[in-house]
Amino acid sequence: MRTSISIAAAFLLLSGAHAQTPTDEASEAALTDMTEECTNYNYAPVVNAASSFPTLWTPVSSVPTTDPGYAKFIAMNASIPNIAPKGTLGVPDNTINTYPSSDPDCWWTESQCTTPKTAGVNPDIASVPEPRTLGYGFDDGPNCSHNAFYDYLESKNQKATLYYIGSSVMIWPLQAQRAVADGHEICVRECLFSDIYLGLYGTLASDDTWSHRSMTAFNNEQAFGELWYTMQAIKLVTGVTPTCWRPPLGDVDDRIRYIAQQLGLETIIWKYDTFDWQANDAAITPPVTPQDVQNNYNTFINDATSGDFNTIGAIVLTHELNNFTMQTAIDNYEKLVAAFDHIMPVGVALNKTTPYVETNYTQSNFEEYVAARAGGSNSTSGSSGSSATGSNSGSPSGTGSKAQTTGTGSSAGVTIRASGLTLVLALVGALFIAQ
Ligand SMILES: *[C@@H]1O[C@H](CO)[C@@H](O)[C@H](O)[C@H]1NC(C)=O
Ligand SMILES: *[C@@H]1O[C@H](CO)[C@@H](O)[C@H](O)[C@H]1NC(C)=O
Ligand SMILES: *[C@@H]1O[C@H](CO)[C@@H](O)[C@H](O)[C@H]1NC(C)=O
Ligand SMILES: *[C@@H]1O[C@H](CO)[C@@H](O)[C@H](O)[C@H]1NC(C)=O
Ligand SMILES: *[C@@H]1O[C@H](CO)[C@@H](O)[C@H](O)[C@H]1NC(C)=O
Ligand SMILES: *[C@@H]1O[C@H](CO)[C@@H](O)[C@H](O)[C@H]1NC(C)=O
Repeated sequence: MRTSISIAAAFLLLSGAHAQTPTDEASEAALTDMTEECTNYNYAPVVNAASSFPTLWTPVSSVPTTDPGYAKFIAMNASIPNIAPKGTLGVPDNTINTYPSSDPDCWWTESQCTTPKTAGVNPDIASVPEPRTLGYGFDDGPNCSHNAFYDYLESKNQKATLYYIGSSVMIWPLQAQRAVADGHEICVRECLFSDIYLGLYGTLASDDTWSHRSMTAFNNEQAFGELWYTMQAIKLVTGVTPTCWRPPLGDVDDRIRYIAQQLGLETIIWKYDTFDWQANDAAITPPVTPQDVQNNYNTFINDATSGDFNTIGAIVLTHELNNFTMQTAIDNYEKLVAAFDHIMPVGVALNKTTPYVETNYTQSNFEEYVAARAGGSNSTSGSSGSSATGSNSGSPSGTGSKAQTTGTGSSAGVTIRASGLTLVLALVGALFIAQ
């Protein structure tokens, strides 16, 4: 009986020409057709929890008093720096030209300020401390069709920091789970229940015409809610709660930094921007072409080669947003490898060995990561020793297991995928034996 089920399964696996609805992380990760990857599916934990979350792609208007986040918000509200929200959600921001040039709020949008002017607020992370090191990361995932990109990173045994949008996590939960299974580091990319793509990017032609619907425009409760619900979405789907976030458009000031900090989130910004996110967007004036983006990559790579990061490493803004941004990342990867000594998740460069609230999930520190790569192991097959305890053997970065993150399965995600291949081979073997 068992054998015939296995043989049937082998046929199913081998005949995979037809679209199959993914049922778990491994089956989603195995899809190679972008249309199949982006075909909606239902994932019971999300369906069941949907009523506890705000409407997707809609700015959070308030946190209900019945939500566990409400008490947390009330507890911090009185101590949030008394800085007025900037602009009005969804309408052109008329205040931007009247904001004092002394930048009292350490508003990044105004002056790229990253060192707060309010006591008790932590500075942003805008560089990684290790010389000749790139804090590698991608904003705005999970893109539903990211398998080609994640497969590439996996083939290079390369881990990254991924800044995930709450609404996308709820819509593409199995894709989000792949990040943890692959050992990437997940951070919050807020505005995540808000519609940053539905108008914001399109109107970002210059400061004067900036219609912003970004973090500093929210009131305290809304800003809290944007971050809080994104954290809850990531926890619901992946089992881990991030401890870092990246403000959309870099739009952060001391009020927003403080709210994030009270939620346990480090603010991670950047000093270099490839502007990959603006390419091919007809609404951007003047237009940003693919060649412009490549030129930005080239400049950044040349800066690295000529020693600009010899005393402190770099963080550059790149995206998981669409095919172009992911493909451009792939096309430039080997050049970045050649230009930097080390490429790693931001948290690894910071020795942040417990990247999540759930401390039983660990990732390498800087030295361990470097040593693992120097060991020449590009293999992601994952020794069995790397799964159960979350130790870091066999993989240079995150080794949290599927078991830890979703409560199903019994070994690390990378191991599961390797085992999946083994399983297919075993079943093919069984098929021949059966005949
Ligand atoms: C939070 O604080 C702000 C500013 O002090 C205040 O206007 C608002 O009413 C407070 N929110 C709640 C829910 O108490
Ligand atoms: C993912 O990328 C594809 C291909 O560029 C794009 O069509 C799609 O809109 C993106 N989806 C998400 C959810 O990011
Ligand atoms: C981008 O699209 C092309 C053409 O569909 C595809 O071959 C390639 O794998 C995609 N790249 C990524 C990173 O998804
Ligand atoms: C990380 O740890 C290494 C030693 O293991 C140390 O040299 C480095 O300064 C640490 N970095 C940070 C940001 O703490
Ligand atoms: C490991 O990956 C690096 C970086 O992509 C590559 O240059 C090298 O050839 C790979 N080594 C092996 C043994 O595959
Ligand atoms: C890690 O801790 C969480 C609870 O915080 C638990 O659900 C999970 O099973 C733990 N995983 C392991 C492998 O201990």
